[in-house]
Amino acid sequence: MALSVDLETGRDIFYKHCKACHGDKGDGKTFAANVLNPPPKNFTAEKSKKELTEKRMIHSVTKGRKGTAMMPWESNLTQEEIQAVVIYIRQKLMQL
Ligand code: HEC
Repeated sequence: MALSVDLETGRDIFYKHCKACHGDKGDGKTFAANVLNPPPKNFTAEKSKKELTEKRMIHSVTKGRKGTAMMPWESNLTQEEIQAVVIYIRQKLMQL
């Protein structure tokens, strides 16, 4: 699966759509975090590394997280793009 996705595509999507809330390092320390409750996920925390499976992340990005600022992306991004950005987060930010 990882072979078919392009980390550069994932990074571009992350910088364009996700960075404002999650931060360029994925640690969630952003201006937006000050006003969001719950705050954006800190992908670099050990807790996140444990609880966020690839499957769960793809689902959360596709469908969003109800009652939070994490919106569903299924109408803006293709399944391939969602997969690419999740792989980018996992490999480059969570360093799994
Ligand atoms: C408007 C701010 C905002 C933007 C933009 C945003 N997120 Fe989030 N994200 C959040 C918040 C807030 C949470 C925490 C939700 C929660 O606690 O359930 C979150 C949680 C997540 C999670 C973890 C969900 C889980 O299952 O716990 C993932 C993965 C994620 N975001 C990926 C992304 C990706 C990929 C993008 C860009 C396509 C993105 N986010 C854009 C605010 C944002």
